[in-house]
Amino acid sequence: MTTDPYAFEEEMALSLREKMARLNVNHKLFHIIYAQQFSKEDLELICKLATIMRKISTSVQGVNFLRSLLAHKSAMLYFTQPSTRTFLSFVRACQYLGMSYAEVRDPSTSSALKGESDIDGVRTFSSYFDLIIMRHHEAGFAERTAFLMNKRRPELEENPLSVISAGSGKDEHPTQALLDVYTLKRCFERRVNGLDKLHVTFMGDVKRGRTVRSLTQLLTLYKDIEVTYVSPDELRIDKDLASFLKRNNVSYTETGRIEDVLETTDVIYVTRIQDEYDVSGESKSIDYTRFHLTLERANRMKPEAIVMHPLPRRAELDPRIDDTPRAQYWAQERNGMWVRSALIAYIMNAESKILDYYSENYSY
Ligand code: NCD
Repeated sequence: MTTDPYAFEEEMALSLREKMARLNVNHKLFHIIYAQQFSKEDLELICKLATIMRKISTSVQGVNFLRSLLAHKSAMLYFTQPSTRTFLSFVRACQYLGMSYAEVRDPSTSSALKGESDIDGVRTFSSYFDLIIMRHHEAGFAERTAFLMNKRRPELEENPLSVISAGSGKDEHPTQALLDVYTLKRCFERRVNGLDKLHVTFMGDVKRGRTVRSLTQLLTLYKDIEVTYVSPDELRIDKDLASFLKRNNVSYTETGRIEDVLETTDVIYVTRIQDEYDVSGESKSIDYTRFHLTLERANRMKPEAIVMHPLPRRAELDPRIDDTPRAQYWAQERNGMWVRSALIAYIMNAESKILDYYSENYSY
């Protein structure tokens, strides 16, 4: 049951720019709801922190240092939609930073079953935790939670509470976009133009895949990016994403044929069909095999080109690609843990301690 006793109409009616200002504290990221909240500087810093943290964590002394950073903080993981890697990578991020945490994944084990509204449920979390990490089927719910936490901030001035969206309906998956950018940076850091002038091809259900939307938004921060969407006619990108691309002067193409770009693209980002959002089983009538990346197709890509996938996969991504250097999806998974650790450290103001520790112990 979802009711709205707190009347969020005022906030929800604001422009994205005004909303984003309310999601920051002292001009710094505080609640993470939209991929568009990340500036290029935020991305640079979070990716740098992620790499530093993964290096620090290779020694016992380093792990103990990281664990001391947020030992006084706690997190609630509230995941009402299925999740494996996003959930586990956030758990590991909390563990690396020494945070205590608790989880609710099945609302039937909470008071939701007694008729409590979701919003009262999250208000309850705020009595016990400093951070809520949430995945919710309802687009906008994480954002309403963030506004709720802002409303309660005056009464608990010393205990502000951040909200991180770990996926919200079909719309947003900001931390997946972060880990995708981090993966791209790691793959292309030695390329002359870095991520500028990269050609990224999204293939599959580009209409309902929230990872496609969120990563597209971050790609526009780089120069002369070229984007191609390869999808069935029924699953083409939504009008709002198309107008976002136009507003940001990004050149993009839509096609039904992967063969058009196989030999020229730098990245193929494969996605599964998001049939959980079907209204009446419409995915069943789509021939998705045209949007499968087979090894034979992957072999036609440029030698340095890579394959990404947010996972979980079904038949759209051939497991024979796994053992080729193009496969970056397992690296994506692991990168997610470090980038989420870095993000939490950043919004909880532990970043300077990490940077100082690194320069004192690792820069010889
Ligand atoms: C994605 C998601 O939940 O949107 N998974 C993930 O977080 N790695 C992609 C998907 O489920 O297809």
